[in-house]
Amino acid sequence: MSEQETIRQRIRDDYTGIAQSSTVTRDMLTGETESSGSCCCAGACGVTESIDAGVLAQQIGYTKEELESLPSDANMGLSCGNPAAIAALKPGEVVLDLGSGGGFDIFLAGPKVGETGRAIGVDMTPAMIDKARTNIAHYTKTTGLSNVEFRLGEIEHIPAPNSSVDVVISNCVLNLAIDKQQVWNEIARVLKPGGRVAVSDIGLLTPLPEAVKSIVESWAGCVSGAILVDEMRSQIEMAGLGSIELTPKPEYVRALTEANDPLYGKIQALLPEGTSAADVITSLDIKATKGCGCAPGCC
Ligand SMILES: C[S@@+](CC[C@H](N)C(=O)[O-])C[C@H]1O[C@@H](n2cnc3c(N)ncnc32)[C@H](O)[C@@H]1O
Repeated sequence: MSEQETIRQRIRDDYTGIAQSSTVTRDMLTGETESSGSCCCAGACGVTESIDAGVLAQQIGYTKEELESLPSDANMGLSCGNPAAIAALKPGEVVLDLGSGGGFDIFLAGPKVGETGRAIGVDMTPAMIDKARTNIAHYTKTTGLSNVEFRLGEIEHIPAPNSSVDVVISNCVLNLAIDKQQVWNEIARVLKPGGRVAVSDIGLLTPLPEAVKSIVESWAGCVSGAILVDEMRSQIEMAGLGSIELTPKPEYVRALTEANDPLYGKIQALLPEGTSAADVITSLDIKATKGCGCAPGCC
């Protein structure tokens, strides 16, 4: 197996463990917490022992009402922003979520695009797809809608036709992709002319020290695979997308650091004195659009 395939398999294994545990914590990524029976939170489970998934989600932009509307385990504390909100979704639109996990953003996007729209999640981890599909019953019961679906696949090879999607969203996933340029090329391929991107992801403000990159769990912890903000901008441009906006959202890294998240504790210990994790790593709101070209009725 190539080094890249080994990393991908490790990521898939880690997220399989998270999906299959009913008491998921981010600490599982560091191996420092029992994977079951140790979490005392009700409903959505804790991110660390001191901050639960619901609290973190509110700190990064979700409302209490949104969180209460969700199936209990759709939010596993794996997000770093609120892409469905920055997407400003409209009724009738087709929205595609890359790395949809337990369906968190899909179940919030579905009611916004309504019965005439469609919300499609893609994830490469079969256990995540199973969890998300199980959650559909709760969604349909509470909303009366049957407009969501989950497809197994890698975001480097998006299982969707050319020019079929109005809005691509994604939450803390692109950093995990081995070939990020290919992912951006795929996003440009599946977007309709005039379609837009609303992604939350982790970016680097300065290069990551090698010692931090080599913390094995920091790949699945969304750190080792992150790239510099300027490199991300170049990749989006190379894919042919325009109107690019990359907005740092420091509250995610701040929340995890203040909550003594074990991975961020390890990272902090490896940074030069006087440098905080938030000086190096940030969550980002990423917006871009696909030009209309000569498409009839696009502009
Ligand atoms: C950090 S979790 C985020 C899940 C979800 N977006 C959320 O906010 O709850 C990352 C998810 O992306 C999936 N994933 C990672 N790399 C992927 C890839 N190359 N293709 C498809 N899915 C991927 C994982 O299986 C996992 O479900």
